[in-house]
Amino acid sequence: MAQCSSWLAAGEMLSFILICSLGGDVPWIHSLENRKIVSLLRELEVIPSHFCLKDRTDFKFPWERGSITEIQKTQRTCFHHLILQQIFSLLNAEDSHAAWNRTLLYQLLSRLHHSLEELDQTNEGNLVCPDLGILVWNYFQGIHNYLKQKKYSTCAWEVVRVEITARLFLM
Ligand SMILES: *[C@@H]1O[C@H](CO)[C@@H](O)[C@H](O)[C@H]1NC(C)=O
Repeated sequence: MAQCSSWLAAGEMLSFILICSLGGDVPWIHSLENRKIVSLLRELEVIPSHFCLKDRTDFKFPWERGSITEIQKTQRTCFHHLILQQIFSLLNAEDSHAAWNRTLLYQLLSRLHHSLEELDQTNEGNLVCPDLGILVWNYFQGIHNYLKQKKYSTCAWEVVRVEITARLFLM
């Protein structure tokens, strides 16, 4: 059964949306690697989230939109892998380097890289999921379009930071 909780931790006021974890036996948050990534994402904050409420948007995370079925939940590892890959390329782009504290960003990118390598090594057979790939690609395309439309403003990056932090937190 999916666990739901409202994401209202101090400083993370942007997403009042109800966020549900992906279900399954072991929430991924229990993985040390994921916790470190989430913690670095939180540290990245450069502007208090509540200054950016007007920029909030719904990025239509596929897992909550019913686009991903129960059967596909067996492909969680693949889903995580895709999400981490997309976060890596989002944050490794030029506009992202300009937006964040470089030291923290490099630490985060190196963590993400490490997690991706670990997933590659331990779950080789589990990392092929073209249907999920399209859903995840569309989701991140929405994020890229949003940032472009907002001219990569500080608030736009903040909205995106909160969005991806919240998603990873409950994975
Ligand atoms: C970037 O973050 C590091 C680590 O938290 C900190 O020591 C440093 O002062 C920050 N740099 C800037 C320019 O804020």
